[in-house]
Order: sequence, then structure tokens, then C-alpha cells
Amino acid sequence: MTDPAGPPTAERVLAALATRWLGRAYEWLPSCGSTNDLAGARARAGAPAGLVIAADQQTAGRGRLGRSWHSPPGANLYLSILLRPERPPADIPPLTLLVGGALARALAGLGFAPRLKWPNDVQLVDETGRPRKVAGILTEMSTAGDRTLQVVVGVGLNVNGVDFPPDLAEIATSLRRSRGGAPLDRAAVLAAFLNALEPMLLDFERVGPGAAVAAFETYAALPAACLVTAPGRPGERLEGIALGVDADGALRLRDETGQIHRVLSGEIHT
Ligand code: BTN
Repeated sequence: MTDPAGPPTAERVLAALATRWLGRAYEWLPSCGSTNDLAGARARAGAPAGLVIAADQQTAGRGRLGRSWHSPPGANLYLSILLRPERPPADIPPLTLLVGGALARALAGLGFAPRLKWPNDVQLVDETGRPRKVAGILTEMSTAGDRTLQVVVGVGLNVNGVDFPPDLAEIATSLRRSRGGAPLDRAAVLAAFLNALEPMLLDFERVGPGAAVAAFETYAALPAACLVTAPGRPGERLEGIALGVDADGALRLRDETGQIHRVLSGEIHT
């Protein structure tokens, strides 16, 4: 499972980076609880925007909606990026869409055919035509009134892992599993992602959430008919046709009566 040229140490990642500021401060750890927690702590201690923390393994990797993130050693990428966007808190959730767009662009550049599932999944279609999750994004922010203090964007990307626990076996994949063959170089995959992301972040600073929605839409796969559930509102289910994503990142859905709903946070089931 291990990378052909060794793990994504600072030396190897920095050698492949073409960015000006993103990832120029980079920490590689053999193991940690959650890279998002660590990046949050570094942020509170004054770390600069652009810091990337990556770990070979996480013992408490977190996903959205209170889920855990499968983080075995020696195989995948688990990383968190510290950002300090000069944008109000309301503009921040669409950053997840932007980062999905950057991941998709990088994977397309490496010869894969990624698609994005709103709001935070990157998928690859398997040989039976079924979409499988290859990456997920967890964006967390801290604010003071109408100011954004810090944003931590966590990315879990299944690169070389081929064995998944039973609950993921039917729904997850990795780059290696989808392509077959030799393991990929995690340092090269990480650098390709950061190289794609930096100019998109500059666009986001300049244009705002519209840049995120445009990046997402390039690779979006919106299901025609779907069911959407919302976190924290277990009884609430919306069924309808996904029409698109609004400028603020909300999913637009038309139910069977023709009424249009906007979903700011939720999960699509097809
Ligand atoms: C999801 O799809 O639910 C989001 C998954 C995000 C996982 C990454 S792995 C690196 C970072 N640290 C964490 O604890 N979570 C994110």
C-alpha cells in the first residue's frame, strides 16, 4: 500500500509545490487525533494562513454530521488547511464547494474522472457505473461577530487504501482501487491539489461565494430525483428534483407540488 517514493514529507511535498503561500508552511506527522483539531489549535496560537498539516494516520478522524473518518496508516491523505479569508462568516460555507472543485481539477489532471456530490463528496464511478466516495471535505470556522477569524478545511482523500471496513466497502473507493495497478505517490497528489487550489482561493477572496459555486458546477453531478435530509432535523425530509446550487452554495430543489426549497446544509440520498 505504501507510496513508491516514500511518504509526503515536507521535503518531498515542497519540492513539488508551485504555490506562493499555500502549503509553504507544512507539517507531516506520523499520527495524530484529527488534523482539523491540530490546525485549529495552531490557528489559535497565531499560525499563518496557508499552513497545511498532514498525518499518515488519524486516531480520531472526523467527518461531517458527527461521523468518523476511516484513517488507517500508510495509504491515504488526511490533511487540514488553515485559511484566514477576509470574508464575512456567511460567505464561508461555500468554501467546501471550492475545495471540492480544486480536488476534482487536480484529479482530472492526474487522469481520473471525478464528480462532485453536493456539498462535500468527491466521487469516482466504478466499473458497474456506481459512484463511490473517494474524498470528503470538512470545513470548520471560528468567528467573532461579523468577522471570520480562522477557517480550517480538512480533506480526507483515499489514495492507496484498498481494504475498507464493511460499512464502507460498498460506497467508498480510492484512487488506486479505481485505477488498479501500482500505488500513487501521495506527495505528488497532495502537491497537485494545493497547486490547483491556490489560484481558486485567490478568486474566492476577490469574487466571493460565486467563485466557489462556479468551481463546483464544473464537476457537479446533481441527481435528477433525490431525497435530502438535514442535520439536526431527523424528521425532515425533502423529496424532489435538484435544480442547481444558488450563489450562496444552497441546494435548490423542486418538490412534487412545484414548490422550490433552498437547503443550506444537508445530505443528498439518491
Ligand atoms: C466527510 O466527508 O464527512 C468529511 C471528511 C473529512 C475528513 C478529513 S481527514 C483530515 C481532516 N481531519 C479530520 O478529522 N477530518 C478531516
